[in-house]
Amino acid sequence: MKNKPEISVAPMMDWTDRHCRYLHRLISPNARLYTEMVTTGALLHGDVDRHLRFDEAEHPVALQLGGSNPDDLAKAAELGQQYGYDEINLNCGCPSDRVQNGRFGACLMKEPELVADCMAAMNAAVDIPVTIKCRIGIDAYDDWDFLKTFVDKSVDKNIITFIIHARKAWLSGLSPKENREIPPLDYERAALVKETYPHLWIVLNGGLTHTPQIVKLRDKFDGFMIGREAYSNPMFLAELEEELHGQTTRSRKDIALAYKTYMRAQHDKYGTPFKSMTRHILGLYHGQPGARGFRRALSTLPYEDGATESVIDEALKFVEG
Ligand SMILES: Cc1cc2nc3c(=O)[nH]c(=O)nc-3n(C[C@H](O)[C@H](O)[C@H](O)COP(=O)(O)O)c2cc1C
Repeated sequence: MKNKPEISVAPMMDWTDRHCRYLHRLISPNARLYTEMVTTGALLHGDVDRHLRFDEAEHPVALQLGGSNPDDLAKAAELGQQYGYDEINLNCGCPSDRVQNGRFGACLMKEPELVADCMAAMNAAVDIPVTIKCRIGIDAYDDWDFLKTFVDKSVDKNIITFIIHARKAWLSGLSPKENREIPPLDYERAALVKETYPHLWIVLNGGLTHTPQIVKLRDKFDGFMIGREAYSNPMFLAELEEELHGQTTRSRKDIALAYKTYMRAQHDKYGTPFKSMTRHILGLYHGQPGARGFRRALSTLPYEDGATESVIDEALKFVEG
């Protein structure tokens, strides 16, 4: 039985790569971490290891897939299971043109039977949980019946976990960024799914940025997925650990130093440039005295020739005295 409520960090392209997830795990022992969306095409025809490898410390970690062909999704899910992921998630919430052209992401909400077939195919291919991340509606399809039908079809195929980004998406006219800001949030609509199907595991996503806000909603949902706030202010995850699980986590400085050790190991093993890892830690001191200096140091020093993990020590001078 999962601990309720569960906190998770949202899948975010270009942001939640394995380095970012490692950082989030240093901060939050319990949060469930999601990969960036990986398309079935990238897995079936690309460099699987580059897309799927992750550090054991990241568990519990979920692989988010983008696709709409049940056979391809089943094969991709199997690969995810072989690599040791704890969950496979299907993206039914991303509104970008690129994913619409590939007929996946949020536009799949208009095809609930196809989604259910995809979910069934993945479920049959793996033993780990298979879950959906969706919106509350798309375009003019934004009433309760639309969402209910979408959920019903996959419930019929034994899917029990739905992560609901509680705003609809406009598939034309709004950019993906605008689609995360302009359509209003409707937590009540997402809560209605839980009320209607108490046996389902319903995770709320969208605009969750304050601990008291989550505490107030904790009885209505099984979990809360945090996106942008976890990236720009990762210590929010520590605050949630403390409030929801009574768990105190490491200090900012200990996190920065542990991440520094990790960066050196990654650099030695894979030749990973330091700048592609330091970018995730810019927000560690968000709201603290010296945060600007910390951020500025890490926005410049790692880009200089010969930069090493010691840029972390340089940045720490601004905040730790
Ligand atoms: C940079 C960025 C990339 C994103 N990439 C994905 C993605 O790959 N898959 C997905 O389902 N959602 C993606 N999202 C949406 C987030 O998962 C989340 O649903 C959204 O940001 C709302 O949550 P928030 O208000 O807590 O940020 C992305 C969001 C951002 C900011």
